[in-house]
Amino acid sequence: MTVSAVIAIDGPAAAGKGTLARRLAEYYGFAYLDTGLLYRAVGRRLLDQGGDPGHVEAATEAARSLAPEALENPALRNDETASAASQVAVIPQVREALLQFQQRFAASPPGDAPGAVIDGRDIGTVVCPGTPYKLFVTASIEERAERRLKELRERGIESIHGRVLQEMKDRDARDSQRDIAPLAKSEDALLIDTTEMDPEKVFSVALDHLSTQGLAPPQSRP
Ligand code: DC
Repeated sequence: MTVSAVIAIDGPAAAGKGTLARRLAEYYGFAYLDTGLLYRAVGRRLLDQGGDPGHVEAATEAARSLAPEALENPALRNDETASAASQVAVIPQVREALLQFQQRFAASPPGDAPGAVIDGRDIGTVVCPGTPYKLFVTASIEERAERRLKELRERGIESIHGRVLQEMKDRDARDSQRDIAPLAKSEDALLIDTTEMDPEKVFSVALDHLSTQGLAPPQSRP
């Protein structure tokens, strides 16, 4: 059995992880998993039930019974869901249930893909600590708030810069300070600060690193 290659990408919100992950997945022909969507789907389910995202039993049940279709819900993208996601993400039983989902995806990527690109907060540290292909993507908080504001505007949602910035600070604090699997750079991950880089540059820096680590370009793989 061939072992699937896993590219682990971690970092805070709106740093450019998703853009990079999708490009790498396309380039290598790997399956892509945005693990934030899993936490968002659990948070959304609790909001839809009129419940509190901090409710341990309800959140655990939602995580254990998560259906892949729940990841398609467009409401997962909004900020109310993002905030609920970062609340359910502090619950150990929720993380445990989602860990299994993520590790299954890494071990046997869908569509018989030869590998997986997985992005989140704890992929290089907890979900796939053994992979040699790790990236930590970050940017200044001002730049990330600016990008999020632009993205919201493009979706027709007017927001106030100060509010977006504050929400991002709150979420960073919750994600980095929680006891279990906090947002952290794995020691052996390459740090990419995208504050002053365009997506093309980020992609080429990532490719250089992955090839140095021994990940073969797609055409030379059997
Ligand atoms: O990447 P995102 O903004 O979609 O993530 C939403 C929330 O989910 C984030 O605030 C923290 C949580 N999360 C996590 O705890 N671990 C992950 N691997 C991915 C996301």
